Amino acid sequence: MNIQFDETNLLAEMVGKAHGVTRAEVERAQPKALKALAGFRKQSEAGTYGFPHLPFQSRVIRAIRRYAAEMRGSYDTVCVVGIGGSALGAWALDCGIRGPHPIQGAFTTDHPRLVILDNVDPDFTAAALGSMDPHKTLVVAIAKSGGTAETVATLLIVREWLYQAVGEEGGRVVAVTTEGKGDLYELARAGGYRIFGIPENVGGRFSVLTPVGLVPAALIGIDIARLCRGAAKMTGICWQPDLVQNIALRAALYHWLIWTRKNKSIQVAFPYSNHLWGTAFWFRQLWAESLGKAQNRKGETVNTGQTPVAALGTTDQHSQVQLYIEGPNDKVFTFWAVKRFHATGPIPGALTGLPAFDALAGQTLARLIDAERRSTAAAMVEYHRPNCTVTLDRVDEEHLGAFLQMMEFQTAFMGEFLNINAFNQEGVELGKKLTFGLMGRDGYESYRAQFAAYEKKRAAAR
Ligand code: PA5
Repeated sequence: MNIQFDETNLLAEMVGKAHGVTRAEVERAQPKALKALAGFRKQSEAGTYGFPHLPFQSRVIRAIRRYAAEMRGSYDTVCVVGIGGSALGAWALDCGIRGPHPIQGAFTTDHPRLVILDNVDPDFTAAALGSMDPHKTLVVAIAKSGGTAETVATLLIVREWLYQAVGEEGGRVVAVTTEGKGDLYELARAGGYRIFGIPENVGGRFSVLTPVGLVPAALIGIDIARLCRGAAKMTGICWQPDLVQNIALRAALYHWLIWTRKNKSIQVAFPYSNHLWGTAFWFRQLWAESLGKAQNRKGETVNTGQTPVAALGTTDQHSQVQLYIEGPNDKVFTFWAVKRFHATGPIPGALTGLPAFDALAGQTLARLIDAERRSTAAAMVEYHRPNCTVTLDRVDEEHLGAFLQMMEFQTAFMGEFLNINAFNQEGVELGKKLTFGLMGRDGYESYRAQFAAYEKKRAAAR
């Protein structure tokens, strides 16, 4: 497993002092990095935060693999019903290993596909159900809380769809939820579903290596043992006190300096790989929900956060890079590069006599995408736009597991730098509660009243 972090283009020598960090600034901040490492390690060892331990849970990994082997051959579609941290990890894994939609191979019982119902758009849900055969679909219902409105509503629809066609749904649904508590757990028990638990100390966006990501991944044929092996190796790296070795800590340190000292309030995650596109959306949630916080741990109002944006190379060079290079200098760019693609994409060598075609004839797409990324980085440096690069040797289970784990550590370390709780998400609660109020749920009457007051205020303002 080989993942590298290259921070050269974040240095003042490359992009100027106003936008890049000096070696002296980095040097001065090193004790803070070591403090962040020690602080997070202490909380991890105390069991407060569980994601660093997940790659080593061999009993859970074995149980999931056994379950996937038992079910194999009885389905051609795995339908995940879940949202946010209960869906994005599965998408990142599916896109990373089986390939981006819509170019995955034909789905069969030997090569099942993944359908993720993570939105309550009625047209999307109806079309998805219309595309699936209930006799060949295995449903994975995922909710840590067990009561998320979108997941609950969609599950009720999917259960009924299964029941109408198959006559029972118990054997066709597996639940991933907090064991012993919550409405999904109760429903699963009553329905005789197979249940996999989510550890209490792992929050949604950090849960890709719990059954939340591993059950769908194993069911679609991803080697979850290799995934966890890669993540385990990365965990060892992320506990190193040496910043040369510890790429997650080094990346967090540089990003913290660039963000807070050079005012880069936006981070563009810029994979040059369609296979990493799902991971970019997974990362967007991880960075946004973990670091967007009203208060620090001392209770002071800080309203901090760095807005993550996902862009795809080379595609978005022709859509976003104009803004990135000439627009406000408020962004830091993280290129995600792949050293070895599965295919090289040889370009036929026959010459046409036309300069634009002949310049590329006989070369490869792998060479072109690499040249485009390096050229974009060079152009950004020219315009004083700080950027850095994470390079994965290739996109396979081991590297993807390691990369996801690296990003989680980097996020946790950043939380320590900022002295915030990176593991809660109070900000999304009010909207959820108001929705329950509007949908008439018992116990949420006060939120219904709060919404009515808001409507009144709007009417007065019009
Ligand atoms: O990271 C988080 O905790 C959230 O984004 C949750 O994953 C999301 O709200 C879904 O929650 P649940 O799994 O309870 O349905």
